[in-house]
Amino acid sequence: MTIDTIVQAFHSRYEDGLPIYRRLAEAITQLIEAGELASGTKLPTHRALADALAVTVGTITRAYAEAERRGVVEARVGAGTYVCSHQRPSWVFSYPDQTPDEYNFGYNIPPSLDRSHELAEAMQSLSQRPEQLNHLMLYQDPQGLAGHRSVVCRWLQAYGVSLDPDRLYFTSGAQHAIQLVLSAFCRSGDTLLTEQVSYPGFLGLARQMQLSVKGVEIDEEGLIPDSLEIACRQYQPRMLYCTPTLQNPTAAVMSETRRKAIIDVCRRHQVLIIEDDVNGLLPEKAPAPLVNHDSEQVIHFGSLSKCLAPGLRLGYIQLPTRLQAHFNTALHHHCLMISPLLSALACELIDTGTADRMLQKIRADMQLRNQRVTQYLSAYQYHNHPQGFHTWLTLPDHWRLSDFVAAAEARAVIVKSAELFTPPGGTISQAVRLAVSAPQSHDTLEQGLSLLAELLAQDPFPDFPL
Ligand SMILES: Cc1ncc(COP(=O)(O)O)c(C=O)c1O
Repeated sequence: MTIDTIVQAFHSRYEDGLPIYRRLAEAITQLIEAGELASGTKLPTHRALADALAVTVGTITRAYAEAERRGVVEARVGAGTYVCSHQRPSWVFSYPDQTPDEYNFGYNIPPSLDRSHELAEAMQSLSQRPEQLNHLMLYQDPQGLAGHRSVVCRWLQAYGVSLDPDRLYFTSGAQHAIQLVLSAFCRSGDTLLTEQVSYPGFLGLARQMQLSVKGVEIDEEGLIPDSLEIACRQYQPRMLYCTPTLQNPTAAVMSETRRKAIIDVCRRHQVLIIEDDVNGLLPEKAPAPLVNHDSEQVIHFGSLSKCLAPGLRLGYIQLPTRLQAHFNTALHHHCLMISPLLSALACELIDTGTADRMLQKIRADMQLRNQRVTQYLSAYQYHNHPQGFHTWLTLPDHWRLSDFVAAAEARAVIVKSAELFTPPGGTISQAVRLAVSAPQSHDTLEQGLSLLAELLAQDPFPDFPL
C-alpha cells in the first residue's frame, strides 16, 4: 500500500532541523528514485496521509509541492498527485567542471550553500501577486522598473554604497556591465589601464574588442597612484578599469587615502574610472567605494553574484549623468532590457531580509574557510581577506609557475595561474589564485589545501645522486 510505504519511509528518516514537510518530500523523492513508487502511482490524498502521519493537511500540501518542485511528482487538476511518468531533470545543478574526486580551486563562486528553500519562498510570494506578475511580463524601460531600482539602492546604502535610483541600470551580472561599458564608450585601438594583474573576464573582452590594455603597478593596497600618474601621461588612456575592494586576483583592498589619491590622478588626466565592485559587499568592513567620492568621475557596477547567487544573473551599474543617454541607447540596442522577473525576485529576497541573511552566511562560511588557509599555508607567502573568496599565493623560489600548476592538476587540484590575469606584454608573477570558496565542502577544502601544502614543500628538481 502506497500510504504505508510512505509512512514507513518518513519515520525512517531522522534529519535534525529539517521541517516536517521537507522530511516528507525527501522520503517521497527517495522512494521514487529507488523505484519503490513506480511512475504513474497515485499518492494518497492529503487528508489520508495527514491522518496517517498525525500532521496537518497544510504540511502534506507543502510536502507534495516540494516534491513537485523537484520534478518527481505532478499534480493533476481534480485527480490528485501522481508519480511522474517521465522523470523531469532535477533542478539541482552541479558546479562547473567539478567532479567529486577533484579539489577545484578554479572559480570564484560563492560557497555551496542550500539556497533552494529561500528561492522557492520568494517565487511563491511573487506568484501570489497576479497584478504584479502581469506587469512583469511586459516590455519595460531599458533602465528597469523604478520601484526595483529604489529597493536595490536602499539595500546597497545599508552597506555603505551610495547610488541614485535615477542613474541606476540593471544588467545581466557584472560581466555584462563591463561589456556594455566597453561597447558603449570605447573604440577599437583605445587604450585602457588596469592593475598589473586583473580580472580575466575584463582582459578577454578587451582583447575581443581590439582594445589595448596596459597594466599599472600595484602593492598590497592595489593600484599605486604614482605609477598610475606615469601611465596616464605615457598612454593617455580612455579609461581605468579597477577593483578597489577585494581585487581579483590579489584580494587587495584599497584604503580610503589610496582611493582618494587614485580619483585625484584620474580627475587631473580626465580618465574615467570603471569601478568593479562585484566583491564590495563581502568584507564586513571596507572603505566606501570610489563612486561615493565622485559619481561624475566613476562608472560603478556590482552584482548579486558573489553576495547572493550567480545564477540570478542580476547586476547593476550607475553612470555619470552626462553618459546616461548614450548608455541607455547601448543597453536598448544590446538586449532591450533586463528581465524584470529577475529584478522582482531580487527585490523579494532583499525586502524579506533573505539577501542579508544569505550574505551573513557567505561571510561566516568564508571566515571558516580562510582560517583553513592560514592553518595549511602559513609557511608560504599569500594574500587574502577573512571574508574574501580567493587567496593569491606566491610560489616559493624552487617552483616554476607552469610546473606547479601542472603538478597540482596531476593530483586533481585545480588552481589558476598568474598568466591568466596578466595583460598582454606584462611580467608574469610566480603566483596562483586559489578560489577558496569553490570546493564543495570544508572537508574537500582541507584535503585540497593539505595536498597543496605537501606540493609546495616538495622540490620538483631534486639533485641527481652522484
Ligand atoms: C572582478 C570580477 N568582476 C566581474 C565578475 C563577473 O561577475 P558576474 O557573475 O556578476 O557577471 C567576476 C566574476 O568572477 C569578477 O571576479
